Amino acid sequence: MRSGYSAMLWLIWCVLFGSLRLGATLSAILQNETEFELAAGHRQGRLFPFYTIGRIANVPCIASNGLQGTCLIRGECADNQGIFGGSCSTLTTQATCCIFSRTCGGSTNLNSTYFTNPGYPGSYNDGGTCTFTITPCSASVCQLRIDFRSLNLAQPNGEGNCLTDVLTITGGSSAVPQICGENTGQHVYVNFADLNPITIRVSTTAGSTVDRMWNLQLSQIACASQFRAPEGCLQYYLEPSGVISSFNYGFGANPNLNSLGATGTRQIAGQRYGICIRAAPDRCTITYSLPTTDGSYAFTVSGDAEVLDPTLIGMGIFGENGDICTTDYVVIPSPVVTDVNAAGAVFTDRFCGLGLFAVTSQVKPFVVYVVWDDNEEPDVANRGFRLAYSQNACTLGA
Ligand SMILES: *[C@@H]1O[C@H](CO)[C@@H](O)[C@H](O)[C@H]1NC(C)=O
Ligand SMILES: *[C@@H]1O[C@H](CO)[C@@H](O)[C@H](O)[C@H]1NC(C)=O
Repeated sequence: MRSGYSAMLWLIWCVLFGSLRLGATLSAILQNETEFELAAGHRQGRLFPFYTIGRIANVPCIASNGLQGTCLIRGECADNQGIFGGSCSTLTTQATCCIFSRTCGGSTNLNSTYFTNPGYPGSYNDGGTCTFTITPCSASVCQLRIDFRSLNLAQPNGEGNCLTDVLTITGGSSAVPQICGENTGQHVYVNFADLNPITIRVSTTAGSTVDRMWNLQLSQIACASQFRAPEGCLQYYLEPSGVISSFNYGFGANPNLNSLGATGTRQIAGQRYGICIRAAPDRCTITYSLPTTDGSYAFTVSGDAEVLDPTLIGMGIFGENGDICTTDYVVIPSPVVTDVNAAGAVFTDRFCGLGLFAVTSQVKPFVVYVVWDDNEEPDVANRGFRLAYSQNACTLGA
């Protein structure tokens, strides 16, 4: 159990790397220097020398290399094996935007830590298992957001199984599917199970020719944060409009063949999760459509993509809907399709096949469920999906 006293220590620990938002109350505690020194002394010796505290605000900052850091006095940064990331205070030149970057075998309870492959930004060619653990920095933290600022692993085999390389995330109270392939720009949310650590594990096979690398940004999210993802959302997009895609969606086919000798799929077998989008104020519905820049494979979810002329793939008429979608499909609740080419058709919330009409969903919370079954073999050359989304004013489609 968390005692009141240790909860307080955690709280203070978190403050150092916490946000402005927690601001008022917490800075009051920080200003209570006697209390702080006592707390730090009880924890692990004088990690943060007393004299440096309270002179600058330990707020999030952006380092000169673009990474997220925490504004600290240089000595504190060095004591925590941080990297100096440029100035962050107009009050003193002694402050630096401190970046915490760690690699295999490491652990952290510091907010906004980066977990990279050994040698990053160089690539990593060894085989083996690389693990990293994250402990909540405070009892008031509920979630971990993992941003894949860079994540390039070997493609799944032709059946969509992550056999050569795999990223797994365990120890949280919410499930994360196995991930491999190209996933730079993706993210996941994981719920902490009380104060238990979450473990990220990257297992790789030596000899693979992939330009393998990873740089995962680990942000701790307070239970009360407005940025906390709702229950059931593996991904949570905060912007009013943007792009969502399935894991390992990307340009180019999977170079691996399936056991029937056909072009493999980029879809990763056995993934079932929700992609949620935060509703913007005064928006009532959301429209998903194929991005104009992505070529025709942006919705290749089930079936044989090699039987169609590539210029035809993606067109709504090659999509499928309803009970016919039984293996791999996406669920878009309460759909409305207004495309003239779909006139007269009745749509249910299950979409699959090799194309998609623009779909407007009329129900909140805004969510797309991804359902990929455990065997991708009947599919050929599928890539999953990449969809642009935009939210509509309340007069549209309402
Ligand atoms: C962790 O840092 C991020 C900024 O990188 C900030 O938004 C968030 O509030 C911090 N979390 C906590 C628990 O302080
Ligand atoms: C400062 O710490 C002392 C001793 O723990 C405590 O009695 C006092 O209430 C604290 N003051 C503030 C403003 O937190």
